[in-house]
Amino acid sequence: MLNGNKVLFSGMQATGNLTLGNYLGALKNWVALADEYECYYSVVDMHSITVRQDPAELRRRARALLTLYIAAGLDPEKSCIYFQSHVSGHAELAWILSCFTYMGELNRMTQFKDKSAKHADNINAGLFTYPVLMAADILLYQADVVPVGIDQMQHLELTRDIAQRFNSIYGDVFTVPEPYIGKIGAKIMSLQDPAKKMSKSDENPNASIYLMDDPDTIRRKCKRAVTDSEGVILYRDEQPGVKNLLDIYCACTSKTPDEAVREFESCGYGQLKEAVSEAVISVLAPLQERVRDLEKDKAYIDKVIHDNAERAAYASSKTLRKVQKKVGFPERIR
Ligand code: TRP
Repeated sequence: MLNGNKVLFSGMQATGNLTLGNYLGALKNWVALADEYECYYSVVDMHSITVRQDPAELRRRARALLTLYIAAGLDPEKSCIYFQSHVSGHAELAWILSCFTYMGELNRMTQFKDKSAKHADNINAGLFTYPVLMAADILLYQADVVPVGIDQMQHLELTRDIAQRFNSIYGDVFTVPEPYIGKIGAKIMSLQDPAKKMSKSDENPNASIYLMDDPDTIRRKCKRAVTDSEGVILYRDEQPGVKNLLDIYCACTSKTPDEAVREFESCGYGQLKEAVSEAVISVLAPLQERVRDLEKDKAYIDKVIHDNAERAAYASSKTLRKVQKKVGFPERIR
């Protein structure tokens, strides 16, 4: 803990094209939390190789994601923005924690079950121990809070169990992290199937608005968004498609659903979709411009990568040394 601020850790994978859902649901909130906490925002590239990746593509996407963190408004002088693979402590702590995690616990992880069904030809041990690496990410920085989506709650629960188990044997070594709840951000659903989350791995390209989509593409996708035959614009569960469009509109304009419903009172779905696409464009166009500007400044991004990897390594080494000592590894000779 620096300056008495509580520590926050979160991470995102650089696999797939990031969507509007990733931005409005997560990244935008990360920015809002950056003043309140001492933040570590990692590009978790080590998690990415649990499924096969094209190396050049992974490298490109990882850098693009880190750039996007900055473009979205995170200040790399304040928040520590770095690649997980640049800090060896993640792997080292994950090994130790794996010796404090039961097979039975990992067997219960729903994401493992889903992913192993999806990648039946590559059910590797890393996919199985993925949650242990995630626990290491969090515990390495003694994080107090972790903003995560509902799909990661089970992993966070496991992290808490591992931390408590370790602490009960060795004394107070780890801060037991809390999920960050509160205004956790808009949950944006697929434009083609509003029962599903908008996902970067969706096979239907019309289901998701990607962060780098150009205005025409955004307009086309909004126009094709699935609605219903009710013909009225109300914010209710019976109209999931319309509700999702209103959620997107509200998240982009900072309006409340009530305000939006009033605004579209006498409108048809066509007008709603048009307003939604313009609202999305007004958020994404400046973001895309910042990404493009930052991409031109290779030296600056390189410096961020270098300096923040050092900061993260320094912060994490304190926890790691303590843990190594607790479990009985011989002291280093200097
Ligand atoms: N597993 C998370 C996801 O896929 C990413 C992640 C890795 C993470 N380590 C983390 C999130 C630590 C929060 C904290 O979304």
